[in-house]
Amino acid sequence: MSFISWNLVTLLYLVASVCFIQALKGLSSPASARQGNAFGMVGMAIAVVTTLALILKLQAEAQASTGGMGFGLVALGVLVGGGIGATLAKKVEMTKMPELVAAMHSLIGLAAVCIAVAAVSEPQAFGIAGIGEALPMGNRIELFIGTFVGAITFSGSVIAFGKLAGKYKFRLFQGAPVVFSGQHMLNLVLATVMVGLGLVFVFAGGTEPAWTPFLIMTAIAFVLGVLIIIPIGGADMPVVVSMLNSYSGWAAAGIGFSLNNSMLIIAGSLVGSSGAILSYIMCKAMNRSFFNVILGGFGGDAAAATASGGAQAARPVKSGSADDASFIMANAESVIIVPGYGLAVARAQHSLKELVEKLTHKGVNVRYAIHPVAGRMPGHMNVLLAEAEVPYDQVFEMEDINGEFGQTDVVLVLGANDVVNPAAKDPKSPIAGMPILEAYKAKSIIVNKRSMASGYAGLDNDLFYQANTMMVFGDAKKVIEDMVKAVD
Ligand code: TAP
Repeated sequence: MSFISWNLVTLLYLVASVCFIQALKGLSSPASARQGNAFGMVGMAIAVVTTLALILKLQAEAQASTGGMGFGLVALGVLVGGGIGATLAKKVEMTKMPELVAAMHSLIGLAAVCIAVAAVSEPQAFGIAGIGEALPMGNRIELFIGTFVGAITFSGSVIAFGKLAGKYKFRLFQGAPVVFSGQHMLNLVLATVMVGLGLVFVFAGGTEPAWTPFLIMTAIAFVLGVLIIIPIGGADMPVVVSMLNSYSGWAAAGIGFSLNNSMLIIAGSLVGSSGAILSYIMCKAMNRSFFNVILGGFGGDAAAATASGGAQAARPVKSGSADDASFIMANAESVIIVPGYGLAVARAQHSLKELVEKLTHKGVNVRYAIHPVAGRMPGHMNVLLAEAEVPYDQVFEMEDINGEFGQTDVVLVLGANDVVNPAAKDPKSPIAGMPILEAYKAKSIIVNKRSMASGYAGLDNDLFYQANTMMVFGDAKKVIEDMVKAVD
């Protein structure tokens, strides 16, 4: 009995791949993002159902030898994995998205390694070599690449997960970079040995695979993944997340070649290349060199971060109430709002929209300024404001509004810290060179946060101590609601 023909499988995989391309296209703009997500879900549903039907077909064809366990195991895997994924995605708060994404990348990397080990061990089960035959050279190259990229993705993503979660005591999971002398040299030596052993595996002849070099190469790749990510400090984590996203795509594509699965190759390449493009865009936005990020450790040393962070308690700041802030804004001609991570935590976007409507009604020109890494995921602030249906024409990207701060009466900084930290102009600072929203140039600055605590990068912020800055302490939602009440 045949459930599905090979031609139909190829056609359905092609349809699924087209859906993935449409999904990416849709996700490039907030207006079409929902449609993009719908395409992604349809594409994935087609891919999963087609694969299950294919397994049933293969199982029916090989019924006698396999004993019929394959489909049941896969269905169980889909149910358990899908159930865990659905529960996590439903429960996760938007601010915790990056660590969920990092955790998922780690699973893709691990899956790539497991499939590669299985394919090296039983190539005939994957249809890449006949019984008693050696693995063809082409497959050995694919398996070598898929394995080391997958292993680096796995261990790197686990470290990224810990750093992003920020709640584990383990030193390697701390936001502060872990740097030691000779780090780059060690990475280089390990990478060279890893590639060398991979080549030994590729060029070894015989029907028995060269297990020893293959397994040592895999172990080194796991270690390298850790070493690459530990020196990355606070503000540079977004680039790392998108870089690991790219790696996970290439690992999947590599395994797609081994399994001769066109859809895995296409989907993996889409993830790999879109992740690489996003990493490049983020590196440009953060004024970082892509190779520095990959080689690790431009986040400066932890000691510098702690030293400047430690100075904060002694310095006086000016503080005021929500009423004072409303009075200043209502009497201004222009206001720029800088939203940050704290606004997302407080879920204050709806109250903020109300405040802006009231101010606009009074004739104040109000705009939002968005930093590319504000919040905890790419586009976080855009999504947050879109959720409150803030009109797109009030929202400006950093490069379009940075020239305006000098002529602006009031900047209202809401739960943002690193993205307005003038320390980025200091070459000795751990965030040196990172472009910031130049709020410090405005005539008056109002900053809302709960305390003088530092932001993600762990640095003190001179903006808060400027003579023309007024701090309004409190949870962003409560403070904004009070501001709304105070604007008559
Ligand atoms: P941060 O620098 O992290 O600062 C957020 C500030 O919000 C904190 O200083 C905190 O101070 C305040 N806050 C927290 N909860 C609040 C609440 N309920 N009400 C009011 N304020 C609250 O945020 P940012 O300026 O948006 O910068 C983002 C940082 O995260 C950058 O360093 C970036 O590199 C990093 N990062 C970004 C991403 C992406 S892709 N966007 C991913 C990972 C990391 P208090 O505790 O005193 O209130």
